Amino acid sequence: MNVTDSADTAILAEAVPLLLSRYDRTKRDLPWRQDPTPYHVWISEIMLQQTRVEAVRPYYTRFLNKLPNVEALANVPDDVLLKLWEGLGYYSRARNLKKAAQQIMEKGGEIPDTVLELCKLSGIGSYTAGAIASIAYDKPAPAVDGNVMRIVMRLLAKEDDIALAQTKKAIESLLTPVMPASGSGCLNQAFMDLGATVCLPNAAPKCADCPLSSICRAHLAGKETAYPVKSAKKPRRIEEKTVLIFRDHNRIAFRKRPDKGLLAGLYEFPWLTGHCSKKEVLSYLKSLGYSALRIKPIEPSKHIFTHIEWHMQAYLVSGDELSDPPETSDLIFAKLSDALTKYPIPSAFSAYIKYCKENEPLI
Ligand code: ADE
Repeated sequence: MNVTDSADTAILAEAVPLLLSRYDRTKRDLPWRQDPTPYHVWISEIMLQQTRVEAVRPYYTRFLNKLPNVEALANVPDDVLLKLWEGLGYYSRARNLKKAAQQIMEKGGEIPDTVLELCKLSGIGSYTAGAIASIAYDKPAPAVDGNVMRIVMRLLAKEDDIALAQTKKAIESLLTPVMPASGSGCLNQAFMDLGATVCLPNAAPKCADCPLSSICRAHLAGKETAYPVKSAKKPRRIEEKTVLIFRDHNRIAFRKRPDKGLLAGLYEFPWLTGHCSKKEVLSYLKSLGYSALRIKPIEPSKHIFTHIEWHMQAYLVSGDELSDPPETSDLIFAKLSDALTKYPIPSAFSAYIKYCKENEPLI
């Protein structure tokens, strides 16, 4: 994409006052807009990555009540942090938040105010850095996410592939010269609101409600849905698992996931690779010293991550007064009364959470 085309720059420059005026009239009332401190903007922007506004609202309020500042975040135990994040997904976001809070505390406790310094923090890329610098510090920086890319590519009728990092960089370069000296936080949020409510992905955008319709090349050509161009992702890998709800009347078996990788540090029900028979499950448990168990199949479930799908079948396995697992095993027996309050469990297992309840019948 040519980032020095003066006709493109002219269209973007024309769009700025139209977007700002619409934002002034219609801005959504969102909790993180009430007191946009650098900390508030940072937390909200990280939560809003890959997550809908309505899903974020309750998490945002609860998170700030528990961790009201950078220092509290830097010192929070991992299990408490992950419990606050439980259900939001993409847990590396939470881990990076804590890491970045520690980096900030080491440098005196102030959240940086430049894109360059913000980008040095864990989990902060050019989008989040631009959002914090512009919304919290009123610096003229663009914040280019999928919404902004979609709007700009339609507005300019560009066919560059938005899945490519170079396209995002080019859009940042195109927007930088048109950011107002003051008010670029409003401009960035105007883009976000327009992308969320008018210039919708996939389905026909609501051009009748768009302040940019008279200058939008895609709209003027009647080709809104031809943009943006995005290359297909490679298909997700499918992993088959056999999940075990292994419990007695007081306790249930969990396992802590490794410190690195998918769902790092969260707790899960133990599972075996592949779709196993009753016999295979019982022989695994026997290898840990458990016998006299009752077993029955329970509902299968599926969970879709960005790059992987888990196809789970499951068994409820119960025994009477199960002894502690051998030291060599990675099983943890959680008291049922603590299972749902103390252990962060990813929503990949939501179909099986009900089996953690004390009154759930055993077999
Ligand atoms: N999506 C990402 N950031 C946002 C913000 N600040 N307001 C509304 N939606 C958003």
